[in-house]
Amino acid sequence: ATQDLIARLESTIQNIPDFPIEGIQFKDITPIFLNPKLYEDVIADLVEFSRGKVDAVCGIESRGYLFGIAIAVALEVPFILIRKKGKLPPPFISEKYDLEYGTAEIEMRTNQIQPNQRVLIHDDLLATGGTTEAAAKLVEKQGAKVTQFSFLIGLKDLHGEDKLKQFDAEVYSILNY
Ligand code: PRP
Ligand code: MG
Repeated sequence: ATQDLIARLESTIQNIPDFPIEGIQFKDITPIFLNPKLYEDVIADLVEFSRGKVDAVCGIESRGYLFGIAIAVALEVPFILIRKKGKLPPPFISEKYDLEYGTAEIEMRTNQIQPNQRVLIHDDLLATGGTTEAAAKLVEKQGAKVTQFSFLIGLKDLHGEDKLKQFDAEVYSILNY
């Protein structure tokens, strides 16, 4: 990303201390959507990372949808929703994971991805990496190959990237804290 984009994003994303629980600093990305030009430039940057390199994009509910679908449309490849538990009709597979705060489970339809497809997993934030690791497992259990991960924000101190090493994929975050 250009220094200009990084600076504009840094000044737009808001840090909310002690949300949703004490000791967690929440990154509020919603001000990005008040600025269509900034949103467009974020998408262009994420599209440039993935252009020609993936056959499908998977976005993780819910904040991974905000950018993921725009990336997929620009790349002219399918977009597949990875959803939180209980939202998808069968057939689907599930994966449990630990969150920064609590535990959760995500699910994916089993009739939407093709074996051997190269897949980008996109989410807004890489924190502990639990969510993204679970998403990548859902993809690889279906015989597709995760070749890229992209995020707006990576929180280095939480070592989320360590959980992604097993997938042998490129990892890109526009901002790193
Ligand atoms: C947040 C964020 C990532 C995930 C990162 O989502 O949007 O998806 O946590 O955490 P991890 O790397 O420690 O797993 P959240 O589950 O809060 O839900 P939301 O996207 O629906 O707001
Ligand atoms: Mg999320």
